[in-house]
Amino acid sequence: MSTKATLFSGMAPSADSLQIGNYIGALQQWVEMQDTYNAIFCVVDLHAITVPQDPKTLAASTRTTAAQYIAAGIDPEQSILFVQSHVSAHTELAWILNTITGFGEASRMTQFKDKAAKQGTEAASLGLFAYPTLMAADILLYDATAVPVGDDQRQHIELTRDLGGRFNSRFGETFKLPEAVIMKETARIYDLQNPEAKMSKTSVSDSGVIWMMDEPSKTAKKIKSAVTDDDREIRFDRGAKPGVSNLLTILSAFTSTPMPELEASFAGRGYGDLKSTVADAVVATFEPMRARALELLSDPAELDRILSRNAARAEELAKPKLATVYERVGLLPRS
Ligand code: TRP
Repeated sequence: MSTKATLFSGMAPSADSLQIGNYIGALQQWVEMQDTYNAIFCVVDLHAITVPQDPKTLAASTRTTAAQYIAAGIDPEQSILFVQSHVSAHTELAWILNTITGFGEASRMTQFKDKAAKQGTEAASLGLFAYPTLMAADILLYDATAVPVGDDQRQHIELTRDLGGRFNSRFGETFKLPEAVIMKETARIYDLQNPEAKMSKTSVSDSGVIWMMDEPSKTAKKIKSAVTDDDREIRFDRGAKPGVSNLLTILSAFTSTPMPELEASFAGRGYGDLKSTVADAVVATFEPMRARALELLSDPAELDRILSRNAARAEELAKPKLATVYERVGLLPRS
């Protein structure tokens, strides 16, 4: 690889289509960062099984997730896009990190506390408890210095830095320490039917949620039926005009137009006009992505070949790092 810094990010496999919030909040930004970094994107199936998963759908979800990322512009020739369980060095390094992680330190992770509380503390697994050390292994294996994540992952990145630094001082300089790149919050998208609430897959009604894999006509219809308000002015004002502001946020993200410029261009125009413009912009982006994802999913063998090739590329980087770690810790090399 070149002199560019390394970026690593992970996403859990999901059976659902990505929705517009995942796209603007993460994926679109990852695609933009591909050129600046040696970028590595990992579908974290081993993290997914820290909470119960249906075995029949997990493999399909992993493919669906990878297909949508490629369709949205993650280039598996330029970047590395692979499945976590395909590269065993992740779990091997995680074990080593477990041995230098304090029980108390791991107990302070707020995501563990939240997830454990949801499941009932008795039902929470040791795997869930060790989630953050596996994540640290993901990052440290590749000397990734940039880790784009949501704000909720900040504490895990801090732990990763602590563990990397601790290993370095006990066993000699081995790992680079990462920085969190917190994804911009401005991209928060709200439910089209209930613009006070975040758009979420658990929304009461599907008509408020925009999915990448929806048919384009359905997407356009949802946007054209979005809730607005009683006056007729098009301006960004989250408090007084949540529906209109939400449409403007979407349009700004899909057309890379700053908000003041958008507001100026809609001066004197009506809501119908705004909605059609938003619908056209979203469909223009999502329609080809949907088509590409369906094409990839129609040939799972070819998709698996792409993932296998990419796992080999990841392994080439991960294996020597793991060998160094084993040697520094004093594990006897197998001759
Ligand atoms: N925990 C991350 C999340 O929920 C996903 C993840 C797993 C990840 N491994 C990672 C993110 C490594 C960044 C780097 O979003």
